[in-house]
Amino acid sequence: MPATSATRIIANGRVWTAVPGAAGLGAAVSVLPLAIAEQQGRITASGALHDLQQRYPGAALYDAGGRLVTPGFIDCHTHIVHAGNRAAEFERRRAGESYQSIAQSGGGILSTVRATRAASLQQLIDTALPRVDALLAEGVTTLEIKSGYGLDLDPELRMLRAARAIADQRALGVATTYLGAHALPPEHGGDAEGYVERLCKELIPAVAASGLADAFDAYCESVAFTAPQVARIFAAAQAHGLRVKLHADQLSNMHGARLAAQHHALSADHLEYTDEDGVAALARAGTVAVLLPGAFYFLRERQRPPVEALRRAGVPMAVATDCNPGTSPLTSLLTAMNLAAVEFGLGTAECLAGVTCHAARALGLQDAIGTIAPGMWCDLAVWNVEQPAELVNNLGARPLHRRFWHGQPDA
Ligand code: NIG
Ligand code: FE
Repeated sequence: MPATSATRIIANGRVWTAVPGAAGLGAAVSVLPLAIAEQQGRITASGALHDLQQRYPGAALYDAGGRLVTPGFIDCHTHIVHAGNRAAEFERRRAGESYQSIAQSGGGILSTVRATRAASLQQLIDTALPRVDALLAEGVTTLEIKSGYGLDLDPELRMLRAARAIADQRALGVATTYLGAHALPPEHGGDAEGYVERLCKELIPAVAASGLADAFDAYCESVAFTAPQVARIFAAAQAHGLRVKLHADQLSNMHGARLAAQHHALSADHLEYTDEDGVAALARAGTVAVLLPGAFYFLRERQRPPVEALRRAGVPMAVATDCNPGTSPLTSLLTAMNLAAVEFGLGTAECLAGVTCHAARALGLQDAIGTIAPGMWCDLAVWNVEQPAELVNNLGARPLHRRFWHGQPDA
């Protein structure tokens, strides 16, 4: 039965899209000459232009001019809403101080907490938008934004509102994450158990009820929360209908990957110190491994995430910027891909899947975004490159030709 009213056909593209779960992601990257039909923002079909034009007579044509077309990119781990900056800590680290010791002396996350608590909603939006725009200029069409620099009800809700406002003010999708267990708030005077109790009884129920958070996140680390504490917090988040994610095994092996898997987390992120047991647990649970090479680079880490073990076990790997003022002041997903390739050994197809289908899965959105297939949102990036490897190889290039979000091209 021929359909009649596609609003647009994107023609003359050379299309790359991952087939999630397909073997051999690390091998050759194949690109197909395809046209894509879009109706009311969603992909309805892809195939030969001639066939689509017959099926959708009268559809508007967008000529991709033989360019590479990929799914719109997804940055699935950011702290892009925050106030202040921590360039002075960058200087301290270069002088030899460690991230942990800066954090223990009241800097680190807590210094951004002070600045963020003092900022208005409008200030949070205004300071985040240039960073967001930098990502959009690289083909990002969906962005995850975490709270976690408020650490009390009002400033956490303010951060989440800022994230929602960004989605209203730009052509992109935003997935919000309540990072309630990022650090112990200073007013708790070292009483982590007291804060965990408050999170479970008061803060998580209130944030869940606000409807402002799509997921919950925690930081399991020596400078943050222990595995048993995170387990209690996750149970509360899940009881309030929030899916969970975890900052896991970044600076030491806290068995965070295993913990995330036990809770069927959407993703376990960082993973530098994850061991074979952790990898096996992620594989069993179907939890996505989100690699954050920006934080690895800025902290001059030496321990790499177990990429070969993740690959062998079939754990989907995503790549994200971790854009934050301390450990990853990075607003370039293309750079994150390059770092993932150079530092972690990912192939081009793994990098591309890492910012498309696997990033979508890390947000629980794999049925809506991240691949070019009927029924998915028509979020696309059209690139001025000859081959996909250039997107990973060329550092500092500006290869984006056009971005489509929900079927609409940017001006
Ligand atoms: O993902 N690991 C915890 N959170 C951030 C760091 C945040 C900060 O230092 O402000 C991260 O690296
Ligand atoms: Fe993070």
